[in-house]
Amino acid sequence: MRSLVSQPTDHAVSAFPKPFLAALSGQVLDRPPFWLMRQAGRYLPEYRKVRQQAGSFLDLCLSPDQACEVTVQPLRRYGMDAAILFSDILMVPYGLGQRLDYVEGEGPQLEPITAASDLVRLSTDGFHHRLAPVYQTVRQVLKALPDHTALIGFAGSPWTVACYMVQGGGSKEWDKVKGFAYRDPIGFAALIALLETVTVDYLAAQIEAGAEAVQLFDSWAGILPPNPFRRLVIEPTRRIVAALKHRFPDVPIIGFPRGAGVMIEAYLLETGIDAVALDTTVPPAWAASRLQVHRPVQGNLDPILVVAGGNTMATEVDEILRALSGGPFIFNLGHGVAQVTPPDHVGHLADLIRSWPERR
Ligand code: CP3
Repeated sequence: MRSLVSQPTDHAVSAFPKPFLAALSGQVLDRPPFWLMRQAGRYLPEYRKVRQQAGSFLDLCLSPDQACEVTVQPLRRYGMDAAILFSDILMVPYGLGQRLDYVEGEGPQLEPITAASDLVRLSTDGFHHRLAPVYQTVRQVLKALPDHTALIGFAGSPWTVACYMVQGGGSKEWDKVKGFAYRDPIGFAALIALLETVTVDYLAAQIEAGAEAVQLFDSWAGILPPNPFRRLVIEPTRRIVAALKHRFPDVPIIGFPRGAGVMIEAYLLETGIDAVALDTTVPPAWAASRLQVHRPVQGNLDPILVVAGGNTMATEVDEILRALSGGPFIFNLGHGVAQVTPPDHVGHLADLIRSWPERR
């Protein structure tokens, strides 16, 4: 097995000239690379301007010039080590022909798949045609990036995407999707199997277009008890990772099982992912001893600490860096940048991460 932990490396002599990819390969860098989930978005005035010009959020996701522009906006300000394709996890249901709207102030709304008999409404015909603008965005972003900046592609995990498809939007209880999964395990498995297949195809197309790493967002992994967690989170993720590794053995896959609690250890060890993203609840020192000894980790500052800013944020940033920068590590938040985040606070955060070698 390859060694995942190595000595601090000079970026210039690394086999991975991009620090983000070096960290994902297991290298320990003097200054950890960083990017932020939802680094492009409504907290940036320049995003709001393009968003308004685009009309709807879906139009923005499907307009390569505008999607490329908003992908690189945060990099111009803060020089992150990675860009993440600007898109949404609900592009997969859109590609399958499910009706999708983003309602201003209310979030996404889909025509719900309430039972196995509704699966006939979904079709893989035309999936890549409908999503061709996403792949075009990847190509354009790759050309627009500085040499040291990596490009991350992404998808939602089957479970999290199914949550929105069945519930018809966001939810507090997720009663409809859990009800379907528990009431009709075989019918629900057919939905998950369909999502596995198209997620592999979708990520493969992003990789072929130029994505250098991919992240699987499992935002609602944490609402499942242990047995369904294995069946609906770990197993589908393991099969997606195996299929992608078969085709693209060198493209790293990051998994983000938000809210998984103690199950994050089984998730990391059993899915075959290359790195795990930590949500805000995972204690950094625990992650160092239980997770980072196996694989690189990414995370996990509370996004609301970036809203607060100042010393409160700085103290917590240093605690994370102290616990995790001795192993392969990518600094990130534990969830997406909040809409009310003052852009200057993100600048302060970037400075704190970059100046860590002077404080360590
Ligand atoms: O991280 C990035 O900068 C890349 C872009 C990205 C978006 N969504 C843009 C977006 C990524 C990686 C996502 C992932 C995503 N989308 C997740 C997983 C991560 C998480 O947050 O848990 C989920 C669950 C979704 C589904 C989704 N999309 C919801 C629930 C919403 C509405 C909530 C909201 O913030 O409005 C969206 C819309 C969305 N996706 C926005 C952005 C920038 C806001 C839309 C707008 O500009 O009006």
